[in-house]
Amino acid sequence: MDTLRFPIAIIGAGALGLHFAARLAAQGPVAVVARNQERAVALRAGVDIGAQRYLPNVFAPEDAPAADWVLVLVKAADTADAARTARAMAPRGVLSLQNGLTGDVLAAACGAIPADQGITTEGAFRDGARVVPSGAGETLVPPGFEAVAAALVAAGFRARVEPDIAAARLAKLLVNVAINPLAALFRVPNGALLEAPHRVLLDALVDEAWPVLRAAGLQLDADAARTRVHAVATATAGNRASMLQDVLAGRRTEIDAITGTLLAMAAAQGADVPTHRAAFTLVKRLEGGPAAS
Ligand SMILES: NC(=O)c1ccc[n+]([C@@H]2O[C@H](COP(=O)([O-])OP(=O)(O)OC[C@H]3O[C@@H](n4cnc5c(N)ncnc54)[C@H](OP(=O)(O)O)[C@@H]3O)[C@@H](O)[C@H]2O)c1
Repeated sequence: MDTLRFPIAIIGAGALGLHFAARLAAQGPVAVVARNQERAVALRAGVDIGAQRYLPNVFAPEDAPAADWVLVLVKAADTADAARTARAMAPRGVLSLQNGLTGDVLAAACGAIPADQGITTEGAFRDGARVVPSGAGETLVPPGFEAVAAALVAAGFRARVEPDIAAARLAKLLVNVAINPLAALFRVPNGALLEAPHRVLLDALVDEAWPVLRAAGLQLDADAARTRVHAVATATAGNRASMLQDVLAGRRTEIDAITGTLLAMAAAQGADVPTHRAAFTLVKRLEGGPAAS
């Protein structure tokens, strides 16, 4: 076991982690790291990913094997724990494909090991013990992670290196700060946000977020920002946003890493984003946790 080294490993045996792992495993060995020993043991019996039965090579964090490349696919609040596990796996690089901006937490915990954040629009959700792939998307990775992009392409995913990954992350954040809180608060699928009475709030969230994200490096003008968000809501009209799924399942949401990140950026710029502050407070209330001050 000491000499076992995997070309690729995934930390987070949830919806997206298992979806990626199952496809990658058809091309070569993949290590999956679950939250704990109990979860690892349960997963060794196999898990249904769509129509496929997948028997993962799954480990508890304390038993995580060495790996060349580690993908982090835990929820944002678990990033630091996952990064510590990743570091112990002595990889060449650690890549987050999470939502929200988690790169700083990841890099701080990974020390000298290269760590960065890409984005993905692949979709999957948990349905009891099963994982249901919910749509093929595209995965963009930062320069330095060419080997990861190549492995994903070999496994049949659409993936590529994006030279301006920072701008791509901000464009994803724009979509997430607009769609996720509203879908969770109103408990509607994404497409309903384009209709009254939600549309006015959706557009207010985009219009408030745009100048803040633009000042941070977003490469979209105001019209393109609205168009991007509307296009995603249209393309995913029947989907339940992840924040809505979390609320319905009684799980903690990623509001801190998504809207919380925008609020921090706005505060640093002296910008006011009142609709986002209200959305943040309301989602925190839904979670039953402390609201924003
Ligand atoms: N699902 C999608 O379609 C999608 C699309 C794009 C981006 N994303 C992003 O991808 C990330 C993962 O999303 P998801 O939907 O796959 O979430 P998920 O289903 O909740 O999966 C996360 C998994 O990580 C496990 N975990 C938590 N802490 C851990 C730790 N320290 N070590 C190892 N495993 C740990 C969780 O264990 P438990 O089961 O015990 O909680 C859970 O199984 C999120 O940032 C999300 O926003 C998701």
